[in-house]
Amino acid sequence: MEFASKNEYMSRISRVIISADEIRQRLPVAGKFIDDLYDGHPILLVSILKGSFVFLSDIARCVTVPCEIEFMEAKSYYEGTKSSGVVNITMDLKCDISNFHVVMIEDIIDTGRTLANVIKLLKTRKPLSFNVITLLDKPERRVVPISADLSLFTIPDLFVVGYGLDYGGYYRNLPYIAEYSE
Ligand code: XMP
Ligand code: MG
Repeated sequence: MEFASKNEYMSRISRVIISADEIRQRLPVAGKFIDDLYDGHPILLVSILKGSFVFLSDIARCVTVPCEIEFMEAKSYYEGTKSSGVVNITMDLKCDISNFHVVMIEDIIDTGRTLANVIKLLKTRKPLSFNVITLLDKPERRVVPISADLSLFTIPDLFVVGYGLDYGGYYRNLPYIAEYSE
């Protein structure tokens, strides 16, 4: 994808759905959720790359109990702005999770397929407990009946970018969540 100008690049951002301020105000809820899990056993925040990298970095700074951070990468293949249904785990965790309370940090739950695949894999490794925090939830699009333990925002069926989420690799660095349209 190429853009002739900054104007063309930004012309695809039709409107802000969730502002940077609104996100900032909700982050302590996620921090408290994680703090409350602490019972003397270590907590492991698992970020699903790439979409959750911004959310993870903000959440991590709201946590006050001992925690470690690991990354894995899952790719859901897209045809334009629609999920094709194929999910691949392209980078696995590099540590044993059996001694951790695992908290998965997701950017968005759409069809639910990515989450269902990752949960299935990680639960076979017997973590002490397992929770999922998602920034965004698009319940209208669900194919697999699954939900997060904590979801910060519910959004309608729109394709959104920003705060980690991309279209064709772009727009991840926008500080807000916006609707993308061509
Ligand atoms: P599923 O369908 O597996 O999708 O729940 C989860 C993954 O799909 C991507 N996704 C989006 N990415 N804007 C994006 O930039 C969206 O509106 C959107 N909906 C789904 C995302 O990678 C997510 O982890
Ligand atoms: Mg993702």
